[in-house]
Amino acid sequence: MRICMISGESNPFLKTGGLGDVVYSLSKKLVTYKHPTSIIMPYYRKIACDTKGCILSRVADFNVKMNWRNQSCQVFKTNYEGINFYFIKNDQYFTCRDDAYGYDDDAERFAFFQLAAMQLIHDLKLPFDVIHVHDWQSSMIPLIYHQFYENKLVRNPKFILTIHNSLFIGYTHRNNLYDFFNISTEYYDNGLTRFNDSIGYLKTGIMTADKVTTVSPTHAEELLKGWDGSGLQGSFELRRQDLSGIINGIDTKEWDPRIDPMIRHNYSIKNALEVRSKCKEEFAKALGFAHPEYPLFVCVSRLSYQKGIDLITGAIPELVRRNCNIYILGTGQKEIENEVLSLQARFPENVVAQIAFRNDLAHIAYSSADFFLIPSRYEPCGLTQMYSHRYGAIPLARATGGLVDSIIAYNGNNEDVADGILFNDYSLDGFLWACNLAINLYYNQDKMNKIIHNGMKANHTWTKSFKEYVALYKKVVGK
Ligand code: ADP
Ligand code: GLC
Repeated sequence: MRICMISGESNPFLKTGGLGDVVYSLSKKLVTYKHPTSIIMPYYRKIACDTKGCILSRVADFNVKMNWRNQSCQVFKTNYEGINFYFIKNDQYFTCRDDAYGYDDDAERFAFFQLAAMQLIHDLKLPFDVIHVHDWQSSMIPLIYHQFYENKLVRNPKFILTIHNSLFIGYTHRNNLYDFFNISTEYYDNGLTRFNDSIGYLKTGIMTADKVTTVSPTHAEELLKGWDGSGLQGSFELRRQDLSGIINGIDTKEWDPRIDPMIRHNYSIKNALEVRSKCKEEFAKALGFAHPEYPLFVCVSRLSYQKGIDLITGAIPELVRRNCNIYILGTGQKEIENEVLSLQARFPENVVAQIAFRNDLAHIAYSSADFFLIPSRYEPCGLTQMYSHRYGAIPLARATGGLVDSIIAYNGNNEDVADGILFNDYSLDGFLWACNLAINLYYNQDKMNKIIHNGMKANHTWTKSFKEYVALYKKVVGK
């Protein structure tokens, strides 16, 4: 089976969140099992500055026609860990920008990206059985294929769309169907592309991919119930037969406290308790907490509405009163960044906030936290609870989406099986209830140690989910 991932991001070259982790770690698993896998992604400035030691060779040069525009495109290729990476380069859209997303012309940038990706597959005669697209950044691909490439590629591929986040739709004005994609505006009115009186890239993908997946079984149910709040419930209902949830796995090589070069001291499940306490003490001192011995609550997250940071900021005065330390590492919405910084100023002895996206600090944080906070409003899968498990930090999360599927909740007396703390209601009371359970646990080290061990033993490898993807690929191509 030959697979092509088309994604707005992928490790190790660029990641803004879990999407970059998942596209890469799933691809690595696929090549290990002899399924040749390629990833097509934009050539961002960050990649130009750091190629991760890879030599990139120029493999294609063409123009992409977007109605009146004729945009130049160069494609660079490298092989990393057995995966073929193709980087779509255009200075105006990607190389001259600091960030991956967040620009007014994102819809145009990713229209170009998707058209260029399909042109590349066509021109280089790349023989893919399955084209696996992810989120809004590549979800117009099946429609582009049906419009322009059906029976014109060396192999007729099938299309899987994986939804990592249904609240990012990728909107553009209806005229841009023609203006960006050269697709007649009659497709606006036939129900495939129209969403809230605009073109919705994600909606288009849901309607045109052969199969649609999301990143956990519970979240697939939530999508069908409309609980994600995206407004796409009707489209999911129409594709009910083709929609499923496959839980993410993690890259167990990058996330392994036994060999992780980024953490202060390495450890395994055997010596985790003593070594982790050294990691915590050193980290807490380095951050300048007045009482490094207090329970340490950590949050490493995008600071966005989705992640429920308002519950953390709301709970901080009470957590401080209860003699806890809180460390927040994140970037995102300015008002949340400011709120977090103001709490640091108000409680300088107990709260440290770093507004940064730093993978090295994230690794150190997982190895040092007592409790890892994930009070999300919604969470399609979540990876940070899985990294927490592996590093012996206890996840404290809201019972939603993939968090339900990957955490066994502690109820006060099931420490033999529990590996985390879950709360149901999205409310400050619900969150403080869970924090109280955590603080009590902290002062009952026997129980706490059992829960840490259970988490470290949890299996979040790709082994099972990867087989589900391969089965889906085979089913869709009819093998
Ligand atoms: P999402 O994709 O919704 O952001 P996930 O839990 O799937 O959530 O993945 C988040 C990923 O991004 C994890 O690898 C996490 O460690 C990383 N991450 C989030 N914020 C930061 C940050 N400020 N610095 C470093 N890594 C971060
Ligand atoms: C999204 C989701 C997150 C998921 C990640 C990777 O960004 O918010 O829950 O883990 O994608 O699939």
